[in-house]
Amino acid sequence: MLERSELADNALQALHDEDYDRPFNTQTLNADTLIFTRGRQGQSLDGDWNFCVDLLDTGLRQKWFAMTPEQPEARIEPWDYDPYMGETVPVPSCWQMQKEKWYFFEGSAWYTRSFEHAPKAARRQVLRIGAAQYDCKVFLNGEFIGNHYGGSTPFCAELTDTLKAGQNWLMLCVNNTRTLDRVPMRNTDWFNYGGVYREVTLFDLPPVVVRDMFVRLEHGRVHVSVKVDGAIEAAQLSIPELGVETPVPLVNGAGEIVLDIAPELWSPDHPKLYDVRLTAGEDQVSDRIGFRTISRDGTEILLNGDPIFLRGISVHEDDVETGKVTSEEDLRRRFAHAKALGCNFLRLAHYPHHERAAELADELGLMLWEEVPVYWAIDFANPDTLRDAANQLRELVRRDRNRASVIIWSIGNENPDTDARLNFMRHLAELAKAEDPTRLTSAACLVNHAHLKIEDRLAAHIDIIGLNEYYGWYEENFDELAEIGRNSAPDRPVVISETGADGDSSGKGPERGLFSLAYQEEVYQKQIATLRELDYVKGMSPWLLYDFRVERRQGIFQRGWNRKGLIAADKETKKPAFHVLAAYYAERATQEERLAASRKGTPA
Ligand code: GCU
Repeated sequence: MLERSELADNALQALHDEDYDRPFNTQTLNADTLIFTRGRQGQSLDGDWNFCVDLLDTGLRQKWFAMTPEQPEARIEPWDYDPYMGETVPVPSCWQMQKEKWYFFEGSAWYTRSFEHAPKAARRQVLRIGAAQYDCKVFLNGEFIGNHYGGSTPFCAELTDTLKAGQNWLMLCVNNTRTLDRVPMRNTDWFNYGGVYREVTLFDLPPVVVRDMFVRLEHGRVHVSVKVDGAIEAAQLSIPELGVETPVPLVNGAGEIVLDIAPELWSPDHPKLYDVRLTAGEDQVSDRIGFRTISRDGTEILLNGDPIFLRGISVHEDDVETGKVTSEEDLRRRFAHAKALGCNFLRLAHYPHHERAAELADELGLMLWEEVPVYWAIDFANPDTLRDAANQLRELVRRDRNRASVIIWSIGNENPDTDARLNFMRHLAELAKAEDPTRLTSAACLVNHAHLKIEDRLAAHIDIIGLNEYYGWYEENFDELAEIGRNSAPDRPVVISETGADGDSSGKGPERGLFSLAYQEEVYQKQIATLRELDYVKGMSPWLLYDFRVERRQGIFQRGWNRKGLIAADKETKKPAFHVLAAYYAERATQEERLAASRKGTPA
């Protein structure tokens, strides 16, 4: 533990080496090490794990991961923590929600648990972590396996060669420190939860493994791309309801086929999904796929070739009780509230939400905007930051590109229009298209207040201009919004990706003026009255569905929460502004039904 160091005769490694973490910040667990997991049964490693916060990274300095289980009285060195005993936390969870003493903790924390393994010839064992905020170093039986950056995307670690028969010890060192060079960086308007807050699963796999399957409608035909680890000549694809049973020839583990079939198209009104199964050697995966197209023509957004208006709302992943941990019940309540609002669309801000969200939206018929947390003043000139952002985008796209509900990949939010940002974001926009040419790209841009116009150099590189404008809240001269509307002539669709105002529904808020419910309602009325006149606005996702936790909001009417929700943090109490937006969306929905009927030549 206090081994000598080559730094100097009297140096102690654990105290004098400030380069201690370099060997563990490898980012070797990334989009390229993901495997396809839908349709697989794995061993859940959720449940109680030993847990310890580690503010000064003593664990990496003293190498706690190298300790072996021993009775305390048998130890011959005075370690500063024993990973094999002590406090526990449930996984998945955010440590801030477990104990008051950890509420504002920001740093490294150690998770430790054992599991039994019975070796089987030629089988592979791959660990999948649904998400760990922000970086996660994986150790197995004292050996460093790899490290992942990014707090909201899944990652996989191959354990095969490090496992042993019988009891194995898995240790995760998770660090949620906010830094300038991370994605997001050190300043955000949402709570910096930390921990292993999505499911942990161990998959036992055959020698040949399906690494990826991407099924989509492209240029009017069904394309299926497959990647396989292992030497086989073909995989077998099956879509029973469409009478498909066909080989997918593989060259160096990759193959793509095009099918001449005519599936029923997925839409919010007809969320049709097909069972798709792929077999490769002994391996088998499956998914439920909806086939649809999303495109743009001028300022129109087209779903299956028909113009649509995105009646949306923004949502964070946040809960009074669980923090950033999402449950099936929480998701179903979220979507039920969105439908009650009259939504056909949600903006999942500002980072990839739990993968169950898009699966459920597929089933319920809701369209989604998914986003990577390239938020505010990212370190745009830093190549390591770009590598991190690009990897998070690839992990998100690889995870969700079989989800019909996902129609937009968003590459950022409210970034300053600088040269460095333009280069950074252009790379991400191109990457999104390279990973998935079938969806639209966007970013939540800012109004150019100097020119009072919708004007951002990034607009030329994305399909939809997301626009965050807060007239009536951060911008007090409301008349400017109409002026911006008149001054702007975008050549592509605009979605108002944010607008809104705080409304304190606790009973402690003011009767009128800022933070009152009455004023929040008035802002929605004025926003709708102005935006409805802009024919290039093809959607809205006002900010936002629920009040949410955030450290920086300490005003007497906020008290640690951003209160722009249309529903309070109890996820029950609707505010008056909810009904203002619902009325507008009901009106729009009726309008669209009439338009759709006239297009089909049938009475509304
Ligand atoms: C910004 C930002 C949000 C933030 C919101 C607000 O537009 O995108 O993340 O919460 O405004 O100030 O409430």
